[in-house]
Amino acid sequence: MTDSNDSLPRHKDDFGRVYDLEDPSPYFTALRPSDYRMPEVLARALKAVHGPVSAARGAGGGLRVLDFACGYGAIGALLRHDVSMTDIYARYAERQWRPSDARRYWSADAAFFAARREAWADFEIGGTDIAGVALEYAAALGFLDRTFHENVVEDAPSGELKRFLHGVDLIVESGSLGDLLPGAFERILDGSGGAAPPWFIYCPRPDVDWAPLATLWAERGYRTESLGAGPIRYRKALASAELADMLRVTRALGKPDEAVMREGYLLVDMTLARPEADAGNPPIERLRGRYD
Ligand SMILES: C[S@@+](CC[C@H](N)C(=O)[O-])C[C@H]1O[C@@H](n2cnc3c(N)ncnc32)[C@H](O)[C@@H]1O
Repeated sequence: MTDSNDSLPRHKDDFGRVYDLEDPSPYFTALRPSDYRMPEVLARALKAVHGPVSAARGAGGGLRVLDFACGYGAIGALLRHDVSMTDIYARYAERQWRPSDARRYWSADAAFFAARREAWADFEIGGTDIAGVALEYAAALGFLDRTFHENVVEDAPSGELKRFLHGVDLIVESGSLGDLLPGAFERILDGSGGAAPPWFIYCPRPDVDWAPLATLWAERGYRTESLGAGPIRYRKALASAELADMLRVTRALGKPDEAVMREGYLLVDMTLARPEADAGNPPIERLRGRYD
């Protein structure tokens, strides 16, 4: 990473190098032109469904959430502070971080968020990711209560993650693994113990073939329903090459351009998956909303 924004990723396949740096600013500054919106959409949805989902799961007024592939913990940041994605992008755009700066900005970031801390509904938030430094940052700033530095694509969840999963109510996901997600969700389901199987809220990009995930849900007796009142603007392409790649894949999957793009944004159908036995309690109409 240099001090120039010109060196930041311009394609989703190139983001790996900004996922686990000692500062979140390259990640958010790279995404900023795309107006990636999902952490805020998910935080809004979690607040809206908190009461009914907690009641339905007998969770005593709280909710235990696992943010899958949470990165720097943006969902927790938005849930616990009076900030928007716009504020987050603006905050991290103020600096030109270099690797030699290391963790120089952590204490100033902690003060920034502490000044905006909100007492909101009772969420216990765990985060799992392969990016250990990003997890450390999210925990240090209070975006996450628990961190699990694991790769559940390759390995079964650790004993520690399994213990967390045994009481988890909701798994949330955005922007993570694409076609590797079904395998990861399968391991999470296996690790969750089965007594009160978790619900999932996830954001399936249209440029991925989700047939294997549909198969997993069918095998595990899960029902999927749209949680948003309509398709949700996910983010814009960062460059013409990325847009061309997105449309090449969506067209190959037989999706018309107008079903996958609106106003230059890729659209997602934010989805709730829950066991058939739980479906209807509460009815999806009580959970569905305009979260964007
Ligand atoms: C586009 S970022 C999304 C981060 C966060 N969900 C957000 O919306 O800001 C993708 C994340 O997936 C993580 N990731 C990639 N492969 C993973 C794996 N096998 N297991 C867990 N996380 C993984 C990356 O480290 C990165 O933090």
